[in-house]
Amino acid sequence: MHSMVFMQFKKFVIKEFGHGPWIKISQETGFDNLHSSIGQTYPDGDFFRLFSKTVEKLGLEKEVALEKFGTSITPFLLQFYEPPTSWGLFDFLEVVETEIHKAVRHTTPYADPAQLIVKRLDKTRIEIFYDSPRGIPWFGLGIIKGLIDHFDDQEARVDLKHLGGLNYLYTISK
Ligand code: HEM
Repeated sequence: MHSMVFMQFKKFVIKEFGHGPWIKISQETGFDNLHSSIGQTYPDGDFFRLFSKTVEKLGLEKEVALEKFGTSITPFLLQFYEPPTSWGLFDFLEVVETEIHKAVRHTTPYADPAQLIVKRLDKTRIEIFYDSPRGIPWFGLGIIKGLIDHFDDQEARVDLKHLGGLNYLYTISK
């Protein structure tokens, strides 16, 4: 997992729950000296160890915590791909896989964002298929909600459906 995801997770925990809990969690998991640089990754298992300790210590539901983290990280992610001002939510979602996640894989060879298949069905509906061995679609759900806020698209709704195994489907509709 990209080191910036770790750094943003640290910021998220401190902002939502304070420095005290973060210090305890990071010391117990050995992440009290986190640092991030461009192109740097940590093993996925490290992220899940840190995340599991956090939800356990703070008594959070895994899915809810991932979704909130996704929403909180969205303004940061948008710095890497600033959409043209004429774009709406759907224009942006359409290029998430082909331009954004693809660029992440290119610049950070060991980072591997979820494989997404985006289908614009019509003017009012877009579907995104999620397939990743990490099985954390709730993180993406949070990002989509963060993007809805960013584009101030008050009519947009997102629904997440489990298709079986590690396959999930987001439907964004207006
Ligand atoms: C602002 C645009 C976005 C950027 C810059 C971005 C970038 C990234 C990066 C850097 C990671 C970490 C990958 C790694 O370390 O291996 C990631 C993971 C992920 N992204 Fe995106 N992303 C964006 C939008 C989205 C959207 C709209 C979705 C909606 C489904 C999404 C779904 C995910 C998921 C679910 C993961 C977790 C990894 C996994 O499940 O395998 N991302 N993204």
